[in-house]
Amino acid sequence: MSIVFANGRSAPNYRDCLREPLYKYDFPNRCDGRELLASVKDESVPCVFFDPQYRGVLDKLCYGNEGESRGIRRSLLPQMDEATIKEFIGEIARVLIPTGHLFLWVDKFHLCEGVSGWMPENLRIVDMIVWDKQKMGMGYRTRRQCEYLLVVQKKPLRAKGVWAMHNIPDVWAEKPANEHAHAKPVRLQARLIEAVTNPGDVVVDPAAGSYSVWKAARLVGRRFLGGDILLQPQI
Ligand SMILES: C[S@@+](CC[C@H](N)C(=O)[O-])C[C@H]1O[C@@H](n2cnc3c(N)ncnc32)[C@H](O)[C@@H]1O
Repeated sequence: MSIVFANGRSAPNYRDCLREPLYKYDFPNRCDGRELLASVKDESVPCVFFDPQYRGVLDKLCYGNEGESRGIRRSLLPQMDEATIKEFIGEIARVLIPTGHLFLWVDKFHLCEGVSGWMPENLRIVDMIVWDKQKMGMGYRTRRQCEYLLVVQKKPLRAKGVWAMHNIPDVWAEKPANEHAHAKPVRLQARLIEAVTNPGDVVVDPAAGSYSVWKAARLVGRRFLGGDILLQPQI
């Protein structure tokens, strides 16, 4: 067991997270993320990132040409309906250690309409970060430049002793990591990983896209366990 922070919160060593060695650590596993999560032991990881492939955004931004020209790269990615997203989050709630953190990416539609219905009883939204991508995206009325990262904690809710960095601003400017349609900011994710894990801990991302979370974990000396249903380029 490795101790997470000084107050006794503990998580198994990363090598002990998997029930069976079906997936590799620090590797782009090609798989359904729900199956990867199902192979992780109960209450064994301190930190999970989840960036769903929202179906709702395409519906809301549909001008008639989405999928044919402007949204082609995005529309080629496998979509997740709400039932699928709930399934992922249910499994994430199971694998997180008590007081562990889920970082959940949401777009402005889900932010406004609410995602609490996706949360099992043992998860609560405890904070939020606005990511300014420093790059204008699509939109008919206004053009999107921000995405939102919900900080979700597994009960018992605690701030003291389970969050090590106290200088992360809740508005974060960083250009996307790469050309993947949904690449997320590596430096922000690295800071968050440092805030809630110890060196050597495992960080999970079950729908990893361009593997920005792996890059972030590697930057700060944490292990990565994740995959994507599509074969993504090696990093
Ligand atoms: C929004 S992107 C993730 C982007 C990623 N956070 C990054 O920084 O590059 C969502 C990803 O979920 C993947 N996906 C969709 N359904 C999946 C499933 N059932 N299991 C695993 N991955 C899935 C898509 O292929 C897509 O790459």
